[in-house]
Amino acid sequence: MIKAQHPRYELWKEGVHAEHSVSCADCHIPYMSKVGFKLTDHQINSPIAKMNRFCQNCHRQIEAELIRSIASNQDKVHQLKMTAEDNIVKAHFEAKAAWDAGATIEEIAPVQKLIHHAQWRWDYATASHGAAFHAPQEVLSLLSRAIQKGTDDRCLLTGILVEKGIKNVPMPDISTKEKDQEYLGMDMEAMKVAKQKFLNEVFLEWDKKAVKEKLYMVRKYH
Ligand code: HEC
Ligand code: HEC
Repeated sequence: MIKAQHPRYELWKEGVHAEHSVSCADCHIPYMSKVGFKLTDHQINSPIAKMNRFCQNCHRQIEAELIRSIASNQDKVHQLKMTAEDNIVKAHFEAKAAWDAGATIEEIAPVQKLIHHAQWRWDYATASHGAAFHAPQEVLSLLSRAIQKGTDDRCLLTGILVEKGIKNVPMPDISTKEKDQEYLGMDMEAMKVAKQKFLNEVFLEWDKKAVKEKLYMVRKYH
């Protein structure tokens, strides 16, 4: 499976700010004066709490207007994201039902291809933080194409399922994260214990080694 890994740069490049050469640092990394000379603060988090430092050098709108504009894009992206996910998840269950009912490799190959196409567009659109602000048009366009590919897939699947005499594919209740984890058979308690053990042992070892060998490049000044 191909997996998108936080494509923040790629999506920022598609947005209006990149078009005007406004970089990540302009919005996320303020200059700060601590020891008599200029330093950059490398903690990347939401600029919303500090809009006067990040946005209002260039924008005259009041803070509330900028926040409304960010939230409005995030809402629209969220709606299409949920629709795309619903479509892609159902396509997976229907494809499995078709396969179990004896669909051939030839019948399933175009189904799989459309699932990959839908899934890739959804993944690329949603795997990076902040994309709904960085490039809302690009993200909405990617998600609408994910929905279209998913819908095409489910039409194809309906034909195969009808031919195999299957009228209805039951969908499990995965309406919450917990139900989803349970359906997938994930032992969350054991996983939490394993993670804590990792943090207490391996992580602390790595941290000590990094400090000793001076591998940390950026110091935090707050
Ligand atoms: C260095 C200058 C600069 C900074 C800093 C900056 N912007 Fe912009 N912003 C621009 C320019 C230039 C445009 C394009 C204006 C146009 O096309 O009319 C723009 C456009 C926008 C738009 C309209 C987007 C669209 O699709 O039309 C929004 C919303 C916005 N900025 C919000 C923000 C927020 C929030 C921040 C802070 C986190 C921010 N900007 C920081 C220069 C900047
Ligand atoms: C015009 C300003 C602007 C530019 C340029 C910009 N960002 Fe953002 N970024 C934002 C805003 C606004 C958010 C949404 C914050 C929120 O929802 O609270 C955000 C969200 C994020 C987040 C998630 C932060 C969080 O705590 O949720 C990350 C990470 C991020 N951006 C990284 C980047 C990177 C990397 C680049 C360059 C490739 C970049 N940003 C370019 C304004 C900008």
